[in-house]
Amino acid sequence: MPTINVIDRSGAKREVEAEMGLSVMEVIRDNGFDELLALCGGCSSCATCHVYIDAEYADKIPAMQEDEDDLLESTDHRNATSRLSCQIEVSDAIDGMTVTIAPED
Ligand code: FES
Repeated sequence: MPTINVIDRSGAKREVEAEMGLSVMEVIRDNGFDELLALCGGCSSCATCHVYIDAEYADKIPAMQEDEDDLLESTDHRNATSRLSCQIEVSDAIDGMTVTIAPED
């Protein structure tokens, strides 16, 4: 099973197992990171699952679609590594990736 590292808003880092078939948002939420609100439940309409990913993994996961791009534009804390964690599916390609929960808007 792949593992990912999650950095919360206090800067604490924890390695968690990422079950295939889940999204990164679900993995983060299921591991008790309550600060990732994921209010829309993963249907790409809230942007409260905003994370920063390792730049080196950007090419290993599917490129963002227009709706994800539009939602990220609405956040105050977007940077070049921003993604919506609900739009990243767990796969072997993300094994070892670090995701940082973005500040709350
Ligand atoms: S959970 Fe709402 S956009 Fe990801």
